[in-house]
Amino acid sequence: MTDRTGHEVSLHGTDVRFACAEGDTLLRAALRAGVGLSYECNSGSCGSCRYELLDGEMHDRRPDAPGLTARDRRKQRRLACQSEPRSACTVRVGATTEPAPHRPVRQWAALREVNPLTHDMAEFVFTTGQPAAFSPGQYAMVLLPDGGVERAYSMSNVGNCYGEWRFVVKRTPDGRATSLLFDKLEVGATVGLDGPYGHAYLRRDNPKIVCVGGGSGVGAMISIVLGAAALPDAADRSVHLFLGGRTADDLFLPSALELAAPRLGALHFHTAVSGAPETGAEACRPESDAYRGFVHEAVIDVLGDDLTDYTYYAAGPPAMTDALARSLVLEGGLDADRLHFDRFC
Ligand SMILES: Cc1cc2nc3c(=O)[nH]c(=O)nc-3n(C[C@H](O)[C@H](O)[C@H](O)COP(=O)(O)OP(=O)(O)OC[C@H]3O[C@@H](n4cnc5c(N)ncnc54)[C@H](O)[C@@H]3O)c2cc1C
Ligand code: FES
Repeated sequence: MTDRTGHEVSLHGTDVRFACAEGDTLLRAALRAGVGLSYECNSGSCGSCRYELLDGEMHDRRPDAPGLTARDRRKQRRLACQSEPRSACTVRVGATTEPAPHRPVRQWAALREVNPLTHDMAEFVFTTGQPAAFSPGQYAMVLLPDGGVERAYSMSNVGNCYGEWRFVVKRTPDGRATSLLFDKLEVGATVGLDGPYGHAYLRRDNPKIVCVGGGSGVGAMISIVLGAAALPDAADRSVHLFLGGRTADDLFLPSALELAAPRLGALHFHTAVSGAPETGAEACRPESDAYRGFVHEAVIDVLGDDLTDYTYYAAGPPAMTDALARSLVLEGGLDADRLHFDRFC
């Protein structure tokens, strides 16, 4: 996608300036320029990209975004992920951080195949004309052609030079984006793909890794496992992969594990189902070895006293990631910087 000329953005109290192309957001333009503004969801939900506009004109893509509280609105705070500069602007932001290794790029992607995984999840495979440059565990914004709906999806593969982007997507009943993806988008169709984004990417320091995926969070965790297996010292690394769902029908055995397992020192696969136990004939199905309870409870039960030895990656619904963070950091004594997660809010 080509950008027309844009507007200059200045960060108040610093000498940082960058250009924001027409139609781009303040957050994404900053990250494209290598300026590490604070953010998480890129969708207007989490509120971590709040800032103040000191000068200039800004268009708000999502005026009712849940990421701003009534107090934020009274104090004239805005969301960088939903703000499009319409003139030169000066903004006041919190402290900037080191941005992720790859700068996000806007491009077109063609849908190559759709592989059903469960009753409500499928893998969507897209290809781009340029290499797929991202770190394991990151996500991209997918802009669907019909109605211009854009949503975040985590890559379920690893960066590659042949431009392949895989996403595990869970259908949301009556969801705008997932209805388009599952019911309308045909193989060969083109979408906008903007990425990579996200901080929950694989770090290399600790060889002991735990991946926790709730629902469609499995995709990001497959990416982390594959990324760990591709490292030169993979044979010295051990990985626990926990997947959680409401019933066994919500879970699947990722085929990528067959590739990763022989390269890793150890790969342990655990499942947890939180719904009420089934009765009668259905109770005889072979899922009975899944942990009965929430996936964060399975993590604590399995790792026990060793839980502070690991670095954790997690993705899934906010209720799951928040419960995991509480159990590991507040109750388990894990250093907060050893937990990296994306909330699918
Ligand atoms: C970082 C991140 C990674 C994610 N990764 C995955 C993944 O790998 N697989 C997966 O299945 N899902 C993932 N999600 C969730 C995904 O982005 C969608 O929320 C989900 O598919 C439901 O979308 P929908 O349009 O079908 O449902 P809807 O119910 O129509 O939309 C729900 C979501 O869209 C948001 N939304 C509503 N309006 C707007 C708007 N104007 N602009 C932007 N957002 C809006 C809402 O806040 C809500 O979160 C991820 C979310 C985040 C934040
Ligand atoms: S990053 Fe802007 S609201 Fe989440």
